[in-house]
Amino acid sequence: MSSFIKAGVIGHPIAHSKSPIIHSHWIEKYGLKGSYDKIDIPPDNFKKDISTLIDQGYVGFNVTVPHKQTIMALCDYIDETATAIGAVNTVKIIDNKLHGYNTDAYGFIQNIKQSVPEFNFTSGAALVLGAGGAARAIVYGLLNQGVPEIIVTNRTIEKSFDIMGLDNKRIRVVEWDLKEANLKNVHLVVNTTSLGMKGQSPLIFNLSDLPKQAIVNDIVYAPLKTNLLTNAELSGNLTVTGIGMLLHQARPAFEKWFGIMPEVDDALIEKVLA
Ligand SMILES: NC(=O)c1ccc[n+]([C@@H]2O[C@H](COP(=O)([O-])OP(=O)(O)OC[C@H]3O[C@@H](n4cnc5c(N)ncnc54)[C@H](OP(=O)(O)O)[C@@H]3O)[C@@H](O)[C@H]2O)c1
Repeated sequence: MSSFIKAGVIGHPIAHSKSPIIHSHWIEKYGLKGSYDKIDIPPDNFKKDISTLIDQGYVGFNVTVPHKQTIMALCDYIDETATAIGAVNTVKIIDNKLHGYNTDAYGFIQNIKQSVPEFNFTSGAALVLGAGGAARAIVYGLLNQGVPEIIVTNRTIEKSFDIMGLDNKRIRVVEWDLKEANLKNVHLVVNTTSLGMKGQSPLIFNLSDLPKQAIVNDIVYAPLKTNLLTNAELSGNLTVTGIGMLLHQARPAFEKWFGIMPEVDDALIEKVLA
């Protein structure tokens, strides 16, 4: 018997979420019977609202701001990646129990791999700008790929030191002015701050010391081509936009609920950017 599969995304606010576009595209593409809903859950009655989702027969849900940490207390199982990252962005409900995962590191790494297949993670250092939730997932992903040195910088330096706890041998923390960074061996730069996002100030980053073969990635995807990426292109560096991370992080979540590992195709990219 094939049953209707219900999944969704919880957050507050949630109106802006692009996840329904992504998952609905795949439900249609693979001819599945299911839905993916935007579910607005304010923090006030969080536990009760999650119980309601279980009662309503959801197979699982994505978790976004402000619930990525609070959901952890309600999970009966949290995998190694989500535990290390300290946040859950995907939940599968099994026998009325919540199983928590984090797919952001996977999404980030897959985006780089799909965009620049020849990129070798072990060949040089990475510079990560920012030390928020996304940065922690990205640094975790880079460590797993064998990046020999990860330089982390953030306006609030204490948060960089928190991330350093993931591997204090391979992670180096520098001040936000980058004076001590030494970019000569940097092969990958990632902006994980919200600077450059629509409505925010641009990220001002001096690219003159960056090797020309370094890839510059901005995980901000609205706008798709940020000030950082435009300047990197002018400097002759290869650039990678942030939309692929959003699309690839959705794939393992979809697989957990619908049983198919979906592909990122051009039609999906067009829909999400429209
Ligand atoms: N492409 C994707 O799939 C994807 C996935 C996740 C997130 N994102 C994007 O990544 C960005 C960060 O997300 P997040 O979840 O990591 O947020 P977060 O945990 O709130 O972290 C925000 C980061 O931005 C920095 N920042 C904010 N305003 C700044 C300013 N005026 N000057 C310098 N630094 C500033 C913060 O520094 P302080 O610590 O000093 O405040 C912190 O490092 C957002 O734009 C989000 O949309 C994209």
